[in-house]
Amino acid sequence: MKKSLLASLVLAGIALASLGAAQTDPMPMGKPTLYQRLGGIHKIADFFDRHFSTMMKSNLVKMNPRLMSAMKMFPAPAAMFVSIGFTCSKIGGPQKYSLLDVSRIEKGFMLSPEEWKMCDDLDRKILRDMKIDDATAEEFLAWHTKSVMDAEPVELMPEPFMSKDSLYARLGGFAPISMVVNDFVNLLATDKTVLSNSRTVKALTDGHVSAAGLKYLVTEQLCAAAGGPFTYSGRSMASSHKGLMITEKEWDASAKLLIQVLNKYKVPAREQKEILGAIIGTKKDIVGH
Ligand code: HEM
Repeated sequence: MKKSLLASLVLAGIALASLGAAQTDPMPMGKPTLYQRLGGIHKIADFFDRHFSTMMKSNLVKMNPRLMSAMKMFPAPAAMFVSIGFTCSKIGGPQKYSLLDVSRIEKGFMLSPEEWKMCDDLDRKILRDMKIDDATAEEFLAWHTKSVMDAEPVELMPEPFMSKDSLYARLGGFAPISMVVNDFVNLLATDKTVLSNSRTVKALTDGHVSAAGLKYLVTEQLCAAAGGPFTYSGRSMASSHKGLMITEKEWDASAKLLIQVLNKYKVPAREQKEILGAIIGTKKDIVGH
C-alpha cells in the first residue's frame, strides 16, 4: 500500500515535470492571430481579470438571477479559467480546450440589450486602458458578439467527470483547482521570503507576465497533471524559471503557502499528498537555475 502511494506520487511528479514542452506564444508566421495581437495569454488573462472583478461588483450580476446562480456554481476564478481557455482556443492561441462552450452558456444567460451594452462598454473601456489598438479591439468584440449570437443557448451544469477515480475528479474538477491556485498565487505574490528575490520581483513586475496569466497557466498545468481534460499550453518549468535563481528557502516558503491553501479548502490528506508529490517533481527545474 505504502509502495503504491509512493509510486503514484513519483508518477504524478513526473507527469507535472514533463508538461510544458509547448511554447506559450509562438512567433507569428504571416498575419498574427487575434490572440497574438491582443498580446498573448498574460494580456488576455488580465483582460478577463479586469472584466470579472468589475462585473462581480456591478448591479448586472446582482440583478440577474441566472448570472447569480452561475457564479454560485462556478465562482470568479473558475469562470475566468474557462472563459480564458475557451476564448484563447477560438482566437488562435495554443490552448486546447474541450470543456464547456462558454458562448452557449453566455447565450443561456439571456442578457437584455441594456445588460449586453453594459458588458460591451465595459470591455471596450478595458481594451482601451490596456492600450489595445482600435482595429484589434473591434475585431475581438465583434468575434465575441457573433460567437454568442450564433450559439444555441445551454444551461450551466456541474462539470461531468470521465473517470471518477482520477485525482482531477476527486479534487472536484477545474473549479476547486482554480480557487486553490487563485489563493496560492495571491499569497506567493505577496510573500516576504518569495519577494526577497529581486529577480522574482522584476519578473513579476516588468509587465511580461500577469498574475491572472500565471493563475491560468498553473491551473491548466495542475488540471492536466491531475488527469483532467486539459493540455498545458505554457512554457516548461525549466525555461520559465531560468535565471530566477530560486533558493531552497524560497521553495520551502512557497510549499508552506500551498499547504496553507489546501488546508483552507479542506482538501483531504490523500489528495494533498498527490498534489504535493506532483509539485515536488518540478523542484529540480525550478530551484537554483
Ligand atoms: C518558490 C516558488 C516559485 C516562484 C518564486 C515562482 C516564480 C515564477 C515567476 C516569477 C514566473 C514568471 C517567470 C517569467 O516568465 O519570467 C513563473 C512562471 C511560472 N511558474 Fe512559477 N514559481 C514558483 C514555483 C512554481 C511551481 C511550484 C509551479 C507549478 C505548480 C509553477 C508554475 C509556473 C508556471 C506554469 C509559470 C508560467 C510558465 C509560462 O510562462 O509559460 N511555479 N514562476
